[in-house]
Amino acid sequence: MAFLSANLEFNIIMAKQFRIAPSILSANFAKLGQEITDVITSGTDIVHFDVMDNHYVPNLTIGPLVCEAIRPVTDAIIDVHLMVKPVDRIIPDFAKAGANIITFHPEASEHIDRSLSLVRDHGCKSGLVFNPATPLSYLDYVMDKVDMILLMSVNPGFGGQKFIPGTLDKLKEARARIDAYTEKTGREIWLEVDGGVNAANIAEIARAGADTFVAGSAIFGAGKDTDPNRYDSIVGALRAELAKV
Ligand code: DX5
Ligand code: ZN
Repeated sequence: MAFLSANLEFNIIMAKQFRIAPSILSANFAKLGQEITDVITSGTDIVHFDVMDNHYVPNLTIGPLVCEAIRPVTDAIIDVHLMVKPVDRIIPDFAKAGANIITFHPEASEHIDRSLSLVRDHGCKSGLVFNPATPLSYLDYVMDKVDMILLMSVNPGFGGQKFIPGTLDKLKEARARIDAYTEKTGREIWLEVDGGVNAANIAEIARAGADTFVAGSAIFGAGKDTDPNRYDSIVGALRAELAKV
């Protein structure tokens, strides 16, 4: 009985463990190091690093050189979201540049199982990213090779888009898959959501099952001046909403 209640308490603590991942896509690139220091100091957990190639998605952003440059600036987890096709050539470069998590879209890899293994072989946590119309069935035979599942709540390519509400049901489905898997294996898998997350919808998104929240424009758009504490109030607002869940 004592064991059961301790276990229950553990599960409750785990359930309340939410991570906020600012997407540096919306940061001031002329001051990227300072932006990262300030946003992490304000109480966020993970640097979300969006890589776009003007091929898999219609936009072009940053690569391994920028990852390498920011690595010494922070101890925070760097979560590299690859929106590039193909993925295998570039995975080792990001691992060497200091990435901790590397996720990619299943449509962008000819051999999903191989690409997931490649990420882990290079010492990183691996993850699959699901566009709004991409089915979760891609997970069916690779759960053992996945450390994070990322659900896109916008179509990938740009910051500042509106959250697609259908993502909530998809999150519930992903949460059920993860919980069943964790029950069976004891291994945890993070469930991240990316696109249009803000203080008005984060609680509802958390209730649907997400534990890791990417927010770009909502965070970086809220701090226009040079005050090092400029992100405290928006991060505080996101945390306050999460505390209600
Ligand atoms: C979109 C990117 C997102 C984006 C999120 O393709 O993957 O990470 O930066 O930005 P917001 O939070 O503004 O929707
Ligand atoms: Zn992203």
